[in-house]
Amino acid sequence: MKVKKAVIPAAGLGTRFLPATKVVPKELLPIVDKPSIQYIMEEVASAGIEEVILITGREKGSIEDHFDTSIELENHLIKKGRRDLLKVVREISGMVTLVSVRQKEPLGLGHAILCAKKVVGNEPFAVLLGDDLIDAKVPCIRQMMDVYQNMDGALVAIQKVPRAETHLYGIIKGKKVMDRVYSVDEMVEKPERGKAPSNLAIIGRYILPPRIFDILEKVKPDRRGEIQLTDGLKELNREVSIYGYEFIGDRYDAGDKFGFLQANLSFGLKHPEIGLKLKRLLKELSSSHR
Ligand code: G1P
Repeated sequence: MKVKKAVIPAAGLGTRFLPATKVVPKELLPIVDKPSIQYIMEEVASAGIEEVILITGREKGSIEDHFDTSIELENHLIKKGRRDLLKVVREISGMVTLVSVRQKEPLGLGHAILCAKKVVGNEPFAVLLGDDLIDAKVPCIRQMMDVYQNMDGALVAIQKVPRAETHLYGIIKGKKVMDRVYSVDEMVEKPERGKAPSNLAIIGRYILPPRIFDILEKVKPDRRGEIQLTDGLKELNREVSIYGYEFIGDRYDAGDKFGFLQANLSFGLKHPEIGLKLKRLLKELSSSHR
């Protein structure tokens, strides 16, 4: 079945970026000149998905505003003859149809996805986590939709990570069944150091069947009181096959201070306006810090 809808959870409090996120949602912190969530929206739109279900929370209204039309701004840009910027702001509001659902309590990723149940209905859907920015020729979620065409069940994006970092991720263990595709036998959310069953980490892109909703309704909260998506997937794996797909592309953890800077530098180096200047600056800085 075709994937037509994407769920983007954006209800987190962004505590890792305080004080920057005291008023501004972390999803709106810029990577060069675009809020990080716009990269996710662009990935969705260029993959051909038309409807996005945004899971938001209190104080997150400005995310919806960013993807809405802004008549005053547009009129101002028309008056000033800034057709170039007008095009940029109009493209943002025309990108996708956005439906937003509030997650009323911070009860974890699994619970956030569950909030989309009514709007998604009875069809497979994509999930994209805003912290994972993926720079790829073919958008990561498009690569996954192409692989998913020949399967039912669920598909999760995976990437090999250093052993020392496995405790930060959901980790899968599986058998390779095709180029880049693993059939998942085991999954564990953030295993203790030294206890991960492999170094294949789940990255924030999923294609899930609607059955996951009924399962998530029954998943017990973990010791931090959160309902984990990975626990739901473990249950789902008893009924249908789950596959891991090793995507092609560069991934940045924009939810982490260092990853956020890395993303800014990498996207900055490719930016037509500042790329060369930034390259020169980095050279200068690295020689002056030797
Ligand atoms: C979430 C998932 C985890 C996954 C990670 C990828 O964790 O629960 O399985 O590996 O995203 O970024 P979070 O980083 O939101 O705690």
